[in-house]
Amino acid sequence: MLGSVPPMGFNTWNTFGQNIDENTVKELADSMVNKGLLDAGYSYLCIDDCWSEKKRDPQTGKIVADKVRFPSGMKALGDYIHSKGLKFGMYSCAGALTCARYPGSFGKEYLDAQTFAEYGCDYLKYDYCFRPSCDSRILYRRMGMALRATGREMMYSICTGGYEHPEKWARSAGGQLYRSTPDIEDSYESFKNIAESQLSNLCFSAPGCFNDMDMLTVGMYGEGNVGNGGCSFAEYKTQFVLWCLFGVPLMLGCDIRKLDGDVLDLVTNKNLIALNRDPECRPPFEVGAHPWLPGKKSFMRFLSNGEYAVGFFNFGQQRGSVPFYLFNAGLTENSGYGMILENLLTGEKTEVLTDVYEQELEPHDCAVYKAKLIKI
Ligand code: GLA
Repeated sequence: MLGSVPPMGFNTWNTFGQNIDENTVKELADSMVNKGLLDAGYSYLCIDDCWSEKKRDPQTGKIVADKVRFPSGMKALGDYIHSKGLKFGMYSCAGALTCARYPGSFGKEYLDAQTFAEYGCDYLKYDYCFRPSCDSRILYRRMGMALRATGREMMYSICTGGYEHPEKWARSAGGQLYRSTPDIEDSYESFKNIAESQLSNLCFSAPGCFNDMDMLTVGMYGEGNVGNGGCSFAEYKTQFVLWCLFGVPLMLGCDIRKLDGDVLDLVTNKNLIALNRDPECRPPFEVGAHPWLPGKKSFMRFLSNGEYAVGFFNFGQQRGSVPFYLFNAGLTENSGYGMILENLLTGEKTEVLTDVYEQELEPHDCAVYKAKLIKI
């Protein structure tokens, strides 16, 4: 099944915006392989908006790749991406224009889907700008059907920025993922607000179709198209852990050509990626909040191997302890069971816990564990 777990890859928008060209995309493809990102699971290289000419071909009506920035054309670029073992993602829009005012697919859905199939695309992000004033579900279904009509398997990324409750219908329109949030920016407030706003949506996310919290800003450090002050490493760690614990797509958005050191280790961490890709794809739930210190929260998630994951987050401005109340996880004091937590990043283990565990955290920091039930 396509999209049995959330997709992983890279998208050009966060860093490059409209400054994309075929040489840069080839360098990005090389980096995905050479830095071990493909081996870690990041398989989709997705080109976002601004790849085409401003006008369609007058004879064929087809969208045409920008002749200066992509002189070899998209088929050749797709071939290069595939030669690296990667998958090729492209972008269009349900409206007459894309969000950056390039040609959109409204009224040309079947032609464009066929064009993307000819390019060898494996993934289409389909945006929401410049639509006619109608119920958009029909537009997204139309492209969903047009993609299938090509006979080529393409992952369908529905992107309404959260408008029109895509969690309720993206699956029925053939989507494997649906953006349920406004655009991310490279700041702590931006990703924190996105994560908090999605807690009530994550129950709609399941194998085949996933809630999409937008491309990661991890490692951008304020540089690039959505760079907006940037974050500290601890904050990027928190972002990545949230995206993994919440089971949403992991699409990198930093300049992966420059990725190294602690950020590269973070985004290729096997334990975190395994958590993100747990095959049962169960949503998290809250298991603790500090009674009077704001922003101290913990979440748990049931995993497919009979274990659990627990994440602790200090969204507040003060250092403090973040509680995990085991009774919120379903464990009663007389159950005869306790839990041992093992830190996914450091390997450290707790003693057997039976009632409350408190994790001390600096502001904006996090800790994440796997948890095992133990008979006591
Ligand atoms: C919208 C999307 C972004 C990006 C831009 C491109 O804002 O939400 O992710 O694709 O359009 O113009």
